[in-house]
Amino acid sequence: MRPPKRLIVALDVPTRAAAVALANELRDHVAMVKVGLEAFVAHGADLVRELRGAGLEVFLDLKLHDIPRTVAAACRAVAALDARLVTVHAQGGGPMITAARDALPTTTKVIAVTALTSLDDAIVSRLGVAMSLGAWVHVLAGEALAAGADGVVTSAHELMLLGDLGGLRIVPGVRSGREPVGDQRRVATAYDAVQRGADYVVVGRPIIEAPRPADAAAALAVEIASAEEVRHAR
Ligand code: C5P
Repeated sequence: MRPPKRLIVALDVPTRAAAVALANELRDHVAMVKVGLEAFVAHGADLVRELRGAGLEVFLDLKLHDIPRTVAAACRAVAALDARLVTVHAQGGGPMITAARDALPTTTKVIAVTALTSLDDAIVSRLGVAMSLGAWVHVLAGEALAAGADGVVTSAHELMLLGDLGGLRIVPGVRSGREPVGDQRRVATAYDAVQRGADYVVVGRPIIEAPRPADAAAALAVEIASAEEVRHAR
């Protein structure tokens, strides 16, 4: 049996044509393509429809964070786009997450972003959070999953701390150690993320800024497959 595809590429590129071209170039290597803030603000639902029309599975990374009524209304507007995953911020609280879940079809999973991978302990402490980042991620994930979220976004560093909370685990902040970290703080390799239980890893710049994105994605798929073997051998 072929292992499940676990790679999601973030289509964080400036034009709609570039996003569609990249998605088509990488389609054999990825489980989904991610339309995030940059692409959705610029190209909106039309880009998602085009990608779905081309047979691609879409992760709509909107990171919704507002009062429950507003988030529910936004979710009703995206329901027809048939995305596989839609993100909300866990910091919006349980009622907001329940409102999102109720507004979307069951074929669209609600994924709660815990603490952004660009945050570290020092930033979180300055924000007044009186616990470690790992403990905060656990609290946020627990609240979100209890409120009906189908999964969480977290860095690979907190995967082990989530224990048997359940739900899908989606991990951005993936770096090999050879390329720049950029604005990310809690980074890990795709190998470590999958070995620790990530259902999907989200990768942007290491693929989209590579000289040959398809080669970079193929190499990551091989790395993920070898982590998968170790995970199943345990
Ligand atoms: O380029 P890079 O691999 O850092 O891109 C990571 C992608 O994952 C970006 O599109 C970013 O918005 C998204 N993301 C993240 N951290 C989260 C949630 C989403 O980096 N907690």
